[in-house]
Amino acid sequence: MRSLFFLASLGLVAAENGLDGWLRYAPLPCSHQCQSKLPASIVVLNATETSPVYVAGAEIQNGLNRIYGSHAKISQNQCKTSSSAVVVGTVEQYRKACGSSNDIPELEEDGFWLNTEGQKIRILGSTERGALYGAFEYLSMLAQGNFSAVSYATNPSAPIRWVNQWDNMDGRIERGYGGPSIFFRNGAIVDDLTRVKQYARLLASIRINAVVVNNVNANATLLTPENLKGLGRIADVFRPYGIKVGISLNFASPKDLGGLNTFDPLDPSVVSWWSNITQQLYQNVPDMAGYLVKANSEGQPGPQEYNRTLAEGANLFAKALQPYGGIVMFRAFVYNQLNESNWKEDRANAAVDFFKELDGEFDENVVVQIKYGPIDFQVREPASPLFANLFNTSTAIELQVTQEYLGQQSHLVYLPPLWKTILDSDLRIDGKHSLVRDVYTGKHFKRKLGGSAAVVNVGTNTTWLGSHLSMSNLYAYGRLAWNPADDAQDMLQDWIRLTFGLDRQVLNTITKMSMQSWPAYEGYSGNLGIQTLTDILYTHYGPNPASQDNNGWGQWTRADHTGIGMDRTVKNGTGFSGQYPAEVAALYENIDTTPEDLLLWFHHVDYTHRLHSGKTVIQHFYDAHYTGAATAQTFPTQWQSLKGKIDDERFNHVLRRLDYQAGHSIIWRDAINTFYYNLSGIPDTAKRVDHHPWRIEAESMKLDGYKTYTVSPFEVSSGSVAIVTASNSTVGSATTRINFASGTYDLAVNYYDFYGGQSQWQVYLNDKKIGEWVGNSEDVYSHTPSIYLDGHSAIRVTFRGVKVKKGDMLKIVGKPDGVEPAPLDYVSFLPDGVVD
Ligand code: GCU
Repeated sequence: MRSLFFLASLGLVAAENGLDGWLRYAPLPCSHQCQSKLPASIVVLNATETSPVYVAGAEIQNGLNRIYGSHAKISQNQCKTSSSAVVVGTVEQYRKACGSSNDIPELEEDGFWLNTEGQKIRILGSTERGALYGAFEYLSMLAQGNFSAVSYATNPSAPIRWVNQWDNMDGRIERGYGGPSIFFRNGAIVDDLTRVKQYARLLASIRINAVVVNNVNANATLLTPENLKGLGRIADVFRPYGIKVGISLNFASPKDLGGLNTFDPLDPSVVSWWSNITQQLYQNVPDMAGYLVKANSEGQPGPQEYNRTLAEGANLFAKALQPYGGIVMFRAFVYNQLNESNWKEDRANAAVDFFKELDGEFDENVVVQIKYGPIDFQVREPASPLFANLFNTSTAIELQVTQEYLGQQSHLVYLPPLWKTILDSDLRIDGKHSLVRDVYTGKHFKRKLGGSAAVVNVGTNTTWLGSHLSMSNLYAYGRLAWNPADDAQDMLQDWIRLTFGLDRQVLNTITKMSMQSWPAYEGYSGNLGIQTLTDILYTHYGPNPASQDNNGWGQWTRADHTGIGMDRTVKNGTGFSGQYPAEVAALYENIDTTPEDLLLWFHHVDYTHRLHSGKTVIQHFYDAHYTGAATAQTFPTQWQSLKGKIDDERFNHVLRRLDYQAGHSIIWRDAINTFYYNLSGIPDTAKRVDHHPWRIEAESMKLDGYKTYTVSPFEVSSGSVAIVTASNSTVGSATTRINFASGTYDLAVNYYDFYGGQSQWQVYLNDKKIGEWVGNSEDVYSHTPSIYLDGHSAIRVTFRGVKVKKGDMLKIVGKPDGVEPAPLDYVSFLPDGVVD
């Protein structure tokens, strides 16, 4: 212990790989007063080793030991001990073992009471799961050095606090950025479930009570007898942590796997096939949470193939699950391909169009799972109007921890401020206060079922999600599922203290960066409600605004040379605004009362339309992209101020990503601005867009073994042209004279690094090598790699403090590898304070 403190005080913090997430129980100094508060023993009120109460006791013992070096013994039936102790169990177990007690408040299912006021610390749950949650709460206090005397009860906002994994049976994860699946490989469940247990521990500590383990785009082979057994093994690992297993189903399984000639939900053979499978599932997983179903969506089979309604499809499963107490999470993400030439068509209308008329037709154990916005996890959306249209149906909100459209964990984006815009939206149902969070938790319509699901997609990477900082999103998701009124910054700060320690500067810096991150990302990706302007036809990662339009997917911007935005008004547009209750509909219908951050979501305007600030829409676009990218430039420097206060392993891992993000935010900024400048022809009043005085284009250098290459889309390359080596085996060089004034510059090199090769580049100044790098980003960062020169593979490397004399010669040598021809776009000589 002592040596650890010593090391920490020297700044030599032990390397950490992130595996323990926020449950690291890092050592803290313990004063005399703290010593007196450490319990001498832990009384567990259930001695069965697989019970959540026993797990709670073991976790407290481990935590006390790791944080404070204390050795509390676990005892089983010593409730009446006179020495200091933590007692953990259910209220009922407590009353039996310790006698009645009047001071325990009423608890709801899974709620707990934590009392640290006396010699005896009491952690009592209404269920064993609740007791475990209470233990983690107590440990969270200890790990933050908080010994205050508290006595309070807390209850969940809703019974459904689920996580969805989009893991495929072959081990790949759809939209996963943290490595392959911890559950599946080669069509089967993995033998070694160690990582599953570690995941269970993390999830239990944030009060998640079920995990759907496989992709919503489900494969029927999950239901083979061997895999049913495997699911049983997974469930056995989760159970001691109070977590149930759920699975996604493929609607066509009776035909594809069962050999029937139909999957019509009303066909008796189909009904009995599902009831039989369900029975087998419950034999293997007696406490299975239920099913998640994506039907008639994005090519998935569903009841509509047989002219049955979505409710008939959902109820098929509801009836099969009903005898076992399972529930069906039925996804509202149903939409058709549309025709953009029809001004009235709108994918945003789909959920209400499909589901409103089915309200009241779903069985009691069906919950309609609704993505937070009407399109698809965009950087900003209004709340899905479906929350205001289902009066007699249980609902759950679907959030996305995995940052599919928000930087794929290669960008820092702390998501709760975005989620909060939805959770706290007042839908004014029947003219009354009706927050979205009160609807899906069941409070507003007085429904028993309801809650949250988040697509998480952890993988085998030790950071779980692909980057250390993205774990704040998972942590906060759990907190919000329990209490959607929790404050975004408060949750973040608990996470920071637990993850990186109690240093004030660490706390303030990570808080600042994280709270800036979503607004910055919105600034440099897509603002004013136009959505994330990413490549929706490919990786969903880098910029490609043109990909939004001229296809049937309906994520349209309707940008042309005069204007931009979807007219979703009733009077002239798609009618979407009319799907909200009257007061909200009126707000969105009128351009003057529409919040400006959703302006282009609801209205099609000229680029010259003036915002309240007096700026035109196009100038706002330009400015926001510059401001957003400028904020991202500060992230590496902010982080660097923490050197020595965080272990090197995590420090460097994060720094590398923040450096990358700073560079990629410039690619975003320039791509979007160039695109709209090109389309509108309206110049930036500040003369920045397409005006880069500090750049030298690669194609304007003297090339040897390199040739020019026209990049598509044009806007992701400076001047729309890059250079690539003449062949896949030719080493190329690009040389130029430097005509900038003598001085010290940061030298930024923009290049492309894609999948299928690891080119090498070297930079020389007057034949002296000043830097080199390898194109291995596909192995380093978490986002989906690309196979092209595009907005996903565009990347920047910066060499700082390069001393240059006017007239010096700069040479970059590129050695191709595999299919990657050492591509280069431009170099920038950046004087202090210039970002170009
Ligand atoms: C998005 C995502 C898909 C996913 C789908 C869904 O469209 O890109 O990968 O399958 O959502 O939520 O079902």
